[in-house]
Amino acid sequence: MSRLSRRAVLAGGLVTAATFFGRGGFVGAASPDRRLIGSVPPSTPPGGSAAPGGSQLLGFAAVAAGTDDTVVVPEGYTSTVLIPWGTPLLSTGPAWKPDASNTAAEQEQQVGAHHDGMFFYPIDGSSTHGVLVLNHEYLDTVVSYPDGDAEITAEKAAKGLAAHGVTIVEIELVDGAWRTVDSDLNRRITGTTPVTFSGPVPAEHAALQANNEPMGTLNNCGSGVTPWGTYLTCEENWNGYFGTVIPDDAEEPWEPSSEQDRYGISAEGFGYRWHEVDPRFDIAVNPNEANRFGWVVEIDPMDPASSPVKRTALGRIKHEAADVVDADGRIVVYMGDDQDGEYMYKYVSTNPWQDDVDADKSPLDGGTLYVARFSDDGTGEWVPLVFGEAPLDQSGGFVDQVDVLMRTREAADRVGATRLDRPEWISTSPVSGETFACLTNGTSGPNPVNSRGPNPYGHIVRFVEADKTATTFEWDVFLLAGDPAYDDEVELDDTNIFGSPDGLWVDTRGVMWIQTDISNSAQALADRGYDNIGNNMMLACDPATGDLRRFLVGPRGCEVTGVHTTPDGTTMFVNIQHPGESTPAWGETTPDDPTAVSSWPDGEGRPRSATVVIRKDDGGVIGA
Ligand code: FEO
Ligand code: CA
Ligand code: CA
Repeated sequence: MSRLSRRAVLAGGLVTAATFFGRGGFVGAASPDRRLIGSVPPSTPPGGSAAPGGSQLLGFAAVAAGTDDTVVVPEGYTSTVLIPWGTPLLSTGPAWKPDASNTAAEQEQQVGAHHDGMFFYPIDGSSTHGVLVLNHEYLDTVVSYPDGDAEITAEKAAKGLAAHGVTIVEIELVDGAWRTVDSDLNRRITGTTPVTFSGPVPAEHAALQANNEPMGTLNNCGSGVTPWGTYLTCEENWNGYFGTVIPDDAEEPWEPSSEQDRYGISAEGFGYRWHEVDPRFDIAVNPNEANRFGWVVEIDPMDPASSPVKRTALGRIKHEAADVVDADGRIVVYMGDDQDGEYMYKYVSTNPWQDDVDADKSPLDGGTLYVARFSDDGTGEWVPLVFGEAPLDQSGGFVDQVDVLMRTREAADRVGATRLDRPEWISTSPVSGETFACLTNGTSGPNPVNSRGPNPYGHIVRFVEADKTATTFEWDVFLLAGDPAYDDEVELDDTNIFGSPDGLWVDTRGVMWIQTDISNSAQALADRGYDNIGNNMMLACDPATGDLRRFLVGPRGCEVTGVHTTPDGTTMFVNIQHPGESTPAWGETTPDDPTAVSSWPDGEGRPRSATVVIRKDDGGVIGA
């Protein structure tokens, strides 16, 4: 009980269905023929019939698109840098070495690389003191080591593993500046931290037995927070860490199984080359190690002795993010599988979460996983992925529910789920109850839900459900991203052109924060239609009026991902990931010239991911 009461402080930003149901009857008596059952007030897409005078929620002047190597925020705001990659977790810890010569052992005691999903856990409800929990998605192998990645060594692989995962660090606001606190809560979860499994695929299941103990979480992309105060971190492109040293022309070359192929596991991997120096990642030698990845992982940031738990009931995909909604006591988790042509999922707990927690059970272990099937008429269905009925039975090639969950993508294929243009973050408005999902870009269309084909700029889809546990929904394309100079269907202007929406969060006031991840191969390039859009950015949208304004522009070569605020909304935390990555518009980052594209945030030396702290000069609410 002490664990829970300690956490009672937390859970700011969690959407509670009761909140929006109470605000004016968005659920109401849904008539079956009503398209998008009127949220309150009805949301208006940007470029639509926005209310004259614009939003009452947004009070800042849009910043211009740009290509400077800096963070730009609106007039009246100031941004500062907190916990860049390599920052020691404790003041007594190993200092960051600007030539990237910190060892693996030192990296384990420092903030990881490539900051992503993030959540601020207030302590005792405070807006000046709390615990920041953030993901570290991947590694720029060029800037991570003094000599780059031409050579791979066991030490380099170990440092790479230590740079992944999650950072938990206590922070406080003192004299107007946020700083880290030397706290017992500060810790790193990395690619080698002991982990366990729970739910329908338990740790002892044969599929999860490998040549090493269960450890690590990798490619931690988006995140979520539960009402019982834990943090959910999502394993995205985990397939890329595996490969094999068995050559293609060997007498018995390695061939992927259909399941491995469906998840994109290949002999080469993504170029990390860990399999060359660590047999843990050789898919031919240690195939079941890959089965331990592709999960949503639950972490208790307030219990430093606790181990991460991989929650298998939520399926095995390239998990992008987990939008948790308290639906009158039951837990609903919206999730995307970020790859071109993949699906959107929803998990609904069987029991009210409090009952499960009181019984010392996890609400994430007992529930139903669904996949989205969109119809062209603006309706859709959440199709259960439950073993036993055709096609999810022997006739469809499945032997049990473990098989359905281990091969979630194939199960979704069988039930005719709708292919989407790379589902990234999903967020449910605590004000209207509408759920919004970023489809970053892709080639699944053209069709009603992926309205462009190909779709280089992405869009945001909106869901309305009579109740968040419902198995049907209504949907529309809420917002089409892009630049009217290249696509006359796009109804945006200089104040808000953008592309490749990825991070998404609707805050407690109902403001939707949209973060972009334009691929480095397209960033700022005219021949890709991205010259006017420039660097990646974050925008604020009032979904009720359709007002959309650019709030932040990031430095060169970065993506902007991960956003949260203190409970009072006066401090915002935003992550800048992979500044300075090779970008054709600016150049190629090399070990000899790690600053070819960017030297943010230090202004000199190699670029590094960092959290940006944004405050309003008058101390007011961010965005207002
Ligand atoms: Fe990790 Fe799909 O972004
Ligand atoms: Ca993302
Ligand atoms: Ca992305």
